[in-house]
Amino acid sequence: MRSVVLFGSFYALLALPHALAVKSQDFKTCSQSGFCRRGRALAARAQEAQSSWKSPYTVDPSSIVISPEDSTVKAAVKSSLYPEIKFGLELRIHDDGVVRVLLDEVDGLKKRYDEAASWALVSEPKLSKGIRWAAGKKELRAVFGEKNDIEVAVDYDPLRVRLRRGGEDQIVLNGRGLLHMEHFRSQTLKETIEEVASDENAEGQEVLQVENVRAWFEGDSEDAYWEEKFSSWTDSKPKGPESLSLDITFPNHGTVYGIPQHATNLSLPSTTGDSPSYTDPFRLYNADVFEYLASSPMSLYGSIPVMHAHSADTTVGVFNAVGSETWIDISYPTKKSTHTHWISESGIMDVFLLPGPTPEEVFAQYARLTGTTALPAHWSLGYHQCRWNYVSSDDVRTVQRRFDEEDMPVDVFWLDIEYAQDHKYFIWDHKTFPDPVEMTNDVAAAGRKMVVIVDPHLKRTSDYPVYQEASDLDILVKPKSGEGEYEGWCWTGSSSWIDHFNPASWDWWISKFKTTKNDTGFSWTESTEDIHIWNDMNEPSIFNGPEITMPKDSIHHGGWEHRDVHNINGMLFHNNTAQAVRLRSDIPKRPFVLTRSFFAGSQRVGAMWTGDNLGTWDHMAVGVKMVLANGIAGMAFAGSDVGGFFGNPEPEMLVRWYQVGIFSPFFRAHAHIDTKRREPFLLDEPYKSIVRDILRLRYAMLPIWYTAFRENSVTGMPIVRPHYVVFPQDTAGFAIDDQFFVGSSGILVKPVTEKDKTEATVYIAEDQVYYDYFTQYAYRGSSKGKHITVAAELHQVPVLIRGGSIIPTRERPRRSSPLMKLDPFTLRVALSKTGTARGDLYLDDGVTYSHQQGDFVWREFVAEQSHKKTTRISSKDLASHNPGKAVDGIALTTFDPKNAFAKEIEEVRVEKIVVLGLNSKPRSVNVEGGAELKWEFVPGVAASDKKEGVSSVLIIKDPKVLITTDWAIVIS
Ligand code: NOJ
Repeated sequence: MRSVVLFGSFYALLALPHALAVKSQDFKTCSQSGFCRRGRALAARAQEAQSSWKSPYTVDPSSIVISPEDSTVKAAVKSSLYPEIKFGLELRIHDDGVVRVLLDEVDGLKKRYDEAASWALVSEPKLSKGIRWAAGKKELRAVFGEKNDIEVAVDYDPLRVRLRRGGEDQIVLNGRGLLHMEHFRSQTLKETIEEVASDENAEGQEVLQVENVRAWFEGDSEDAYWEEKFSSWTDSKPKGPESLSLDITFPNHGTVYGIPQHATNLSLPSTTGDSPSYTDPFRLYNADVFEYLASSPMSLYGSIPVMHAHSADTTVGVFNAVGSETWIDISYPTKKSTHTHWISESGIMDVFLLPGPTPEEVFAQYARLTGTTALPAHWSLGYHQCRWNYVSSDDVRTVQRRFDEEDMPVDVFWLDIEYAQDHKYFIWDHKTFPDPVEMTNDVAAAGRKMVVIVDPHLKRTSDYPVYQEASDLDILVKPKSGEGEYEGWCWTGSSSWIDHFNPASWDWWISKFKTTKNDTGFSWTESTEDIHIWNDMNEPSIFNGPEITMPKDSIHHGGWEHRDVHNINGMLFHNNTAQAVRLRSDIPKRPFVLTRSFFAGSQRVGAMWTGDNLGTWDHMAVGVKMVLANGIAGMAFAGSDVGGFFGNPEPEMLVRWYQVGIFSPFFRAHAHIDTKRREPFLLDEPYKSIVRDILRLRYAMLPIWYTAFRENSVTGMPIVRPHYVVFPQDTAGFAIDDQFFVGSSGILVKPVTEKDKTEATVYIAEDQVYYDYFTQYAYRGSSKGKHITVAAELHQVPVLIRGGSIIPTRERPRRSSPLMKLDPFTLRVALSKTGTARGDLYLDDGVTYSHQQGDFVWREFVAEQSHKKTTRISSKDLASHNPGKAVDGIALTTFDPKNAFAKEIEEVRVEKIVVLGLNSKPRSVNVEGGAELKWEFVPGVAASDKKEGVSSVLIIKDPKVLITTDWAIVIS
């Protein structure tokens, strides 16, 4: 147990050679969790009863009330098992076709937690108007959608909700009759019933009969209703049973994705049915799982209850807004259908049905609900160098100097927990960090930033002002008694946790990050605006708590139990920290705050990483899948620790891991305190030079990444896109999760995650030419799908450009990304087989919010072939045509191409244009209406050829055009 580690010498213990393996005994399996056991037992009874199984829940048709605006409908629901208990059903149709389905107990003994969605949603969704509901004898129906082809139907007996399109069921709730909302009851009631039943009178007989019926559905024992033990802990369960079981069926979709975070395949393996891949359901319960497995349905640090169901015809989604522990069983009864069963410990039913019908629309629908990733600070897309720990300010300076000596770009240096005296976050240990502000300024002199860790556990000591103030303000989480302060153990020893559900904590927390003196107590004067923040351990991780976290019966603001809000908890800490970092400067700057724990909506706040991975090939490979899965659920700014947190990767592995890292939205190397130093400048040759080139490739491609982040911030489309997102109809690609596209750029990557590889197989889904980014070799795909073999020696990461793309890069090596601001661009024009191409480029100051006022540049590049066999490459402003779509968070109606930012970079040139796949040597290359340019042509395979081989390459050196102005170049 971790607490032992704390009290003894934890460094020593962690340093011991031990088999790297999860401590599974620290975490519950479904069979050790009362409500999961009950949920699965219910499913087993249904399975056994087969067609005689009938859900006891019914709608009372006489109770149906349709709102005057027609967008919502309410109805009373009853369970035949408990006729005296009332439930209320509500359906709301949003103006984009999303259907929200709510079910709650009405006038119950207690109130179910109903605020999960309000934390997750970006704002109250707009409801549709003018829906025509038809309440028939057996069902209630409404038809809606732009093409009037979506239908929602509520069957009365038993209650069932179906979302249909084109007459086909897409999503069905309670289709298998597993819906069960355990109502609040008093513990004494059961005893009374038993007493009455034991009197062998008529009344007793009746009660017994009711009990039998209930047993048929609910089981015949009160399994863990009132108290639950796990290892040495007892959960007191003051509210008794209140779990919610719900089956969600996708009758016409045979693949499901999402519900991060789990270390598993993107296309989710089965957990029930015939020979399931895992025997436990997928679990969503934010947890600090030490040395997690590379393939498992176990919980990890974050939970996003969002699932995509996909087929070649349509994609739909569900967002189950629940903040309590949730288990999800998945089975595939046929190749074309999916059964899922969601079992949550508490909370109302609040499910959003996302009708799709394409992946793109599902992303947009989910983004309208929970928001998108705010456009991050540009520097945060650079390389982050972290380790537990850089031990002193001189250590930081030396590491920075070594990067510069080796000409390796880096943007951010990180400090882990050892910077803080006794782990009292914000308080520098002056023995080792005597000059934190000067140190940060030295780092900032090269345009760089620092990220410093601030964990949520506060050391309970009166000489720590942050704790003392929180205690005085009474804003700490309370123990189960509801009085005083909950106390647990973490790095800091005896600690308490701020209750970020308490609004009184918000402004106070924000004030701690001010770099100037505060009237209201402590503020972080020993910091600068170049310090950004890392929020770790916010599941929360508590070494002596059940499952290394907070006891479920601890009390938050409003009297809610921790059990109700556990999965939301980490998001609030992250959010409030990001607000604090944003608001500490007079002109707000984009905050960077990394979180380990997250929930639906966390994407609005910032980046996440996949926690304490192991330095193994398996972990490297699964990290790619996890980043993709997070992107599916909106958490786009994601990455894994490069190098693996635990262990000492050999040089080959480290090189491959850097190749994975540069193709992750968030790119950070990190290592455990007991690992050997492994900064890239320490590598021997040839590894060092290989990693230098890899880092430089990331920096060259920053324009592509930033442009992808712009798109994500507006549309919700993931930054890294798995195959099914780009080719939704290609069934052969549904399970592919080891190669992906970067944004809409046309860059296709297949990182090598195995030892001793010299080649890689890449799947091409279409009849198109794909060019090797480095060798310009033109590969041909096929409309039936085709595997190609590409070179993948250690220095080669398989990167292809999809024919039809124009890729903007900046290829001057610099020490950090801010130093690239005025650097010229290279455009790679990868012609499609029909001789066309397009791409876009988004730029702004990368730091402030002035882009929301229109200070940005958004260009479109197009290559077209005219009938005269002329190729014309042009650049035009995209924003004037689409001002409202340019940046998220504002509704720009006009756009000034000569805005302040555009002026700042008005002299930035295109220094080179490379055209791949031209048919033949041009006769001339001119700026349209201008002089002949200097160019070189190397003959080779044309884009329109059927054959493969090195493509023809035209290099236009200094095309004499600028990045911010309209121009055209004519190749004839
Ligand atoms: C756990 C985090 O996952 C890890 O990245 C960090 O280095 C340690 N906590 C120490 O802060």
